[in-house]
Amino acid sequence: MNQKIIIAIDGYSSSGKSTLAKAISKKLKYKYIDSGAMYRSVTLFAIQNKIFNSDLWNIQNFIPILKEINLKFKWNKKYNQTDIFLNKENILYKIRSEQVEDKVNFISQIPEVREKLTLMQRNMAEEKKGIVVDGRDIGNYVFPKSELKIFMKGSIEIRSYRRYKDLKKRGKKISYEEVKKNLIYRDIMDTSRNISPLKKSIDSIEIDNTFLSVEKQLNLIFKLINKKK
Ligand code: DC
Repeated sequence: MNQKIIIAIDGYSSSGKSTLAKAISKKLKYKYIDSGAMYRSVTLFAIQNKIFNSDLWNIQNFIPILKEINLKFKWNKKYNQTDIFLNKENILYKIRSEQVEDKVNFISQIPEVREKLTLMQRNMAEEKKGIVVDGRDIGNYVFPKSELKIFMKGSIEIRSYRRYKDLKKRGKKISYEEVKKNLIYRDIMDTSRNISPLKKSIDSIEIDNTFLSVEKQLNLIFKLINKKK
C-alpha cells in the first residue's frame, strides 16, 4: 500500500517542527502547510489595517474584515521554499518581523481567527492529498484523524539557543536571556489558551530532540511514515 496521508506535527516554539516538516514535504513531495505562518499572516493583516493602537486594539473593527483575508501556499522552485501569499502579496519575510512576533500571540487567541484558519487548513487538505502540517492544535483539533501525529519538545535551553542562533544570523540584536524569556512566555501562552491550546494528544508520538540531531529525527520519522503508508 502506498497511500498519501496527513502528517501532523505539533509542539513547542522553536522545537524544530518546521525543519522536519519541510524535509518530509520535500522527500515525499507532500504539500507543506505552516499553520504558524497563517497566524502570523493574519497578524500582519491586522497591523497593515491599523487594528493595533499602541497596546489597545479594537477587536470589534477586526472581526468584520477577517473575510477579506485570503491565504495561499505556493512552492517556489527557484528558491526551494514554500511562499505564503496574503491576497496576492508574497509575505514570507514580512511575517517574521518583530512587530508580527510581538502581536501574534494576541491574534491567535481570537476564536473567529482560529475558526477561519482551521477551515482554511481543512480546505487545503481537501485540495491535495498528502500533506504535512505543523502547528499547535493540528493533531488534537484541525486534523484529529491524521494518520501520523508527532509531538515535538526540547529543553527550554536548547530551544532558546537554537532560536538565539537563528535570530543572530538574521542580524537581530538580542541576548540569549531575552530569547529564553520570550520563549517561556510563548510556552505559557500556547499551553494556557482557552481554545485549542498546545497539548500532546494521546495518539501522538513524542520526540524530545534535546539531544537528537535532525538526521536522527528524520530517520525516526521516515520509519514511522513507512509503517503508516
Ligand atoms: O510556529 P510559529 O512560531 O510560526 O507560530 C506563530 C504563533 O502562532 C505562535 O504564537 C502560536 C500561534 N499558532 C497557533 O496558535 N496555532 C497554530 N496551529 C500555529 C501557531
